[in-house]
Amino acid sequence: EQIKKGSYDHFMQKEIHEQPHSLKTTMRGRLKDGGVVLGGLKEYLKTIRRCRRVVFIGCGTSYNAALAARPFVEELTGIPVTMEVASDLLDRQGPIYREDTAVFVSQSGETADTLLALDYALENGALCVGITNTVGSTLSRKTHCGVHINAGCEIGVASTKAYTSQIVAMAMMALAIGSDQISTQARRDSIISGLNNLSSNVSEVLKLDAGMKELASSLIDSESLLVFGRGYNYATALEGALKVKEVALMHSEGMLAGEMKHGPLALVDENLPIIVIATRDACFRGRLIVMCSRGDAAAVCPSGGSCRVIEVPQVADCLQPVINIIPLQLLAYHLTVLRGFDVDQPRNLAKSVTTQ
Ligand code: G6P
Repeated sequence: EQIKKGSYDHFMQKEIHEQPHSLKTTMRGRLKDGGVVLGGLKEYLKTIRRCRRVVFIGCGTSYNAALAARPFVEELTGIPVTMEVASDLLDRQGPIYREDTAVFVSQSGETADTLLALDYALENGALCVGITNTVGSTLSRKTHCGVHINAGCEIGVASTKAYTSQIVAMAMMALAIGSDQISTQARRDSIISGLNNLSSNVSEVLKLDAGMKELASSLIDSESLLVFGRGYNYATALEGALKVKEVALMHSEGMLAGEMKHGPLALVDENLPIIVIATRDACFRGRLIVMCSRGDAAAVCPSGGSCRVIEVPQVADCLQPVINIIPLQLLAYHLTVLRGFDVDQPRNLAKSVTTQ
């Protein structure tokens, strides 16, 4: 096992640091001649373009990846996107139509709730698309078409590199679906150039590791951590908080920043740590930790001393969630180690939940 971890102490740590490479393998051979080629979707693009809506379905981190993809899928395709947690869709027996494209997102391709929701969508006649990391999985066999994310095997129970590769796979999917639209050509070109530079920007943001370890040591005794994000980074807030909960066993909530004034603000006192994701496109009494674009520290935290700043490289706005989650993955990792918990096998959790 130690051989497989190489120079790393834990699989989660290794997988976080593998992201410059895993993102490259997700994109390998797929960005061609200024466009995107996805062999597993090619024959279905016309049908998808004609659909009435896209329904994203998944659980846990995979759901969060789909939530990160929602804004750019809507923008690049013009198709309305709705979000479904697989178990909740089944509980409600929510409406799925033949005119829908149901996109199932699952790292393992074996999550029971996601597979049952797939059976349900197939019965209802929807076109079913799979986004998975596991070739030959039940999900990839049962869906009509799809995209393998090619992130490489993920062993740590807490998903990290699969999350960022899922977002990139869905960005390529959105680019491919929207490729017939002349009005968004310039936008697509800028996202493709962002994808081409993403891996080097991820290498840059990984240099925050020591800073995140220091931040983690200042948070080890906190009872709770709030993470606020909005727009493209609402999903980053949910996913960052999920990482802290599942491995560091610390209460954490990700919230839509715009909703703060409608309730959560009541929780804020001098002691509650709050991470605000404010990369260029979003202050109060709590212990503020602000994530911002490099060079924006003075603008987002004019008071300087009272808030802590995490500066990250700026990339194409819709790809920013791939960058912004990485300091939070590192923070969750270091918090877990410093709090003395099991990184790769968190209490009560399984890598793949194959029961309902
Ligand atoms: C489990 C794992 C999570 C994962 C979720 C969905 O709960 O602990 O890390 O996000 O399942 O897994 P999937 O394989 O469908 O992406």
